[in-house]
Amino acid sequence: MNVVHTINEVRSHVRAAHKSGKRVGLVPTMGALHPGHMSLVTAARKSADDNPHGGFVAVSIFINPTQFAPGEDLDTYPKTLDDDLKLCEAAGVDLVFAPGVEKMYPREIAADTTVTVSNLPDTLCGKSRPGHFAGVCTVVAKLFNIVQPDEAFFGAKDFQQAAIIRQMVADLNLPVDIIICPIIREADGLAMSSRNVRLTAEDRKQAPAMHAGLALGAAIINDSHTPAAEVIDAIEKHLRENAPAGKIDYIQIVDPKSLQDVAATDKSVLIAMAVKFGDVRLIDNILIGE
Ligand code: PAF
Repeated sequence: MNVVHTINEVRSHVRAAHKSGKRVGLVPTMGALHPGHMSLVTAARKSADDNPHGGFVAVSIFINPTQFAPGEDLDTYPKTLDDDLKLCEAAGVDLVFAPGVEKMYPREIAADTTVTVSNLPDTLCGKSRPGHFAGVCTVVAKLFNIVQPDEAFFGAKDFQQAAIIRQMVADLNLPVDIIICPIIREADGLAMSSRNVRLTAEDRKQAPAMHAGLALGAAIINDSHTPAAEVIDAIEKHLRENAPAGKIDYIQIVDPKSLQDVAATDKSVLIAMAVKFGDVRLIDNILIGE
């Protein structure tokens, strides 16, 4: 496995891989890798190995400052590069690209050129994290241009992020297949996240109520197509009772394509939520009927 820090090094490794006919897969991450990330790496490795000319799996590890607003957890975001590299090596990754901020944003932290998708970022997490998705799209577009992957792998936990990246790729005709992999959960249902390690012991005990609340909402919808507002009330009650330390940012039931709120639940819907435990903001979702 090669570990590189410059754009030129990435390009020369990927050029060689493409020259020998290999399919290049990219798993973009901010590090602090956990089994959720590793499931993306496994999917990338499998897809690469299924290619008749073989494949090449690249993982990027970069905590992107432009997707954090002032006051968010940029400074406390977990950093575990040595462990991350061991996990990547064991998973058969070919290349890790771990650039410094100055390599990704050589002039200033805020690049002058940004990539913004309209509409999809105006709801769910975008409401309380203005500018977040412009930061994500800009860095992902940069990573796609640097690595030039044939396919890139993202997790369904960040459902809105995945939808926005898909939209960006379609609108800008970027030649990258976007593969969305299922949410990986702890045994008690908590969706795996790099931020989970920052939960206090008590908050960690309460946080699985998020998934239990989503499962409750899904059961109600599957049972009786109850109107969205009533389902949200039931989930909110569940959270108030089982995760009193959690401050609900939002619970929304939306159309999985437009991400706009729906009133009825008789078609495919996404229930999504964000809850803050102290300064740790967790998200989770469940897709129903698709
Ligand atoms: O999902 C993440 O970890 C980040 O938003 C991403 C896609 C690596 C961009 O910084």
